[in-house]
Amino acid sequence: MAQTTVPYVRTIAELRKITSAWHAEGSTIALVPTMGALHAGHLALVQQAHEVADHVIVSLFVNPTQFAPSEDLAQYPRPIADDLALCREAQVACVFAPEVSDMYPPDEVACVVDVPEITGPLEGDVRPGHFAGVGRVCLKLFHMAQPDVAVFGQKDYQQLMLIRALAADLALPMRIVACPTVREADGLALSSRNRYLDAAQRRHALGLCKALRQAQAMIEQGECDPQIVEETMRTTMASHQIEVDYAAVRHPLTLSELDNLDPATCGGVVALVAGRLTGATTVRLIDNFLIGGEPERSVLPR
Ligand code: PAJ
Repeated sequence: MAQTTVPYVRTIAELRKITSAWHAEGSTIALVPTMGALHAGHLALVQQAHEVADHVIVSLFVNPTQFAPSEDLAQYPRPIADDLALCREAQVACVFAPEVSDMYPPDEVACVVDVPEITGPLEGDVRPGHFAGVGRVCLKLFHMAQPDVAVFGQKDYQQLMLIRALAADLALPMRIVACPTVREADGLALSSRNRYLDAAQRRHALGLCKALRQAQAMIEQGECDPQIVEETMRTTMASHQIEVDYAAVRHPLTLSELDNLDPATCGGVVALVAGRLTGATTVRLIDNFLIGGEPERSVLPR
């Protein structure tokens, strides 16, 4: 039966009280960090969280430190009533929606949380400072909510790699669980930013997953040269009026460049794309495909 309300917590002290009580009674907690404007992709994470822990916490926080001054922080959608209703329907045990001034007290000096090897290329190149903001806020959320598990989407592949690296290198006492990308019927990956798309941009946005499907088909048919695959992806995106930020085929765990895509030598790969759709509002979207199956974590160098 659906809950009638969802506990809605605004302060770190209240959150701690709830999570400490849950830990004291021996139950487990899964955290799903989000920036709100929830959609079916976020709800798939919540579903996955229910499968791995007794209580699910969703955080709703539009994190200012991961936006550059030129980006859409002010416009980012904040439909809090809708988000709370979706969390209630999804049987979320607690929604944590802190104030910016609680997350970033004005007298607090900033820590730099980064894994340069992972966050340097691709998104890191286009959005300098973005991942330092993501890493910092996620570590804060982990320490505030003290979850046993945190669930992240593969949709933000590089972000997922960053969080996994932080959890491993800093020995965080929690598990990171990944959830596959949820898509519209035509293949467009769900994103909170899709609501900015006008009708023409929505049609053109399909160029992202078309480019990824093409990369997959080429690699599965034996194309081994990453530059040829990347060039094809860029051409497809451009033919959909997408201004390409990057179209890359990389090692699925390190995101390093590859000389040869032969599955016999490199195992699986990840193809990643990002681009901007211009219109009344310019909308930037990202997407990726894992090609050749889930990477074996045991082959990660270190
Ligand atoms: P946000 O964009 O709200 O995404 C929250 C989580 O939902 C992320 O783990 C993201 O990968 C996942 N997600 C988004 N779209 C998805 C889709 N179509 N299918 C599956 N999962 C999807 O990512 C962030 O917020 C922030 O950077 C955050 C981690 C909360 C830190 O501020």
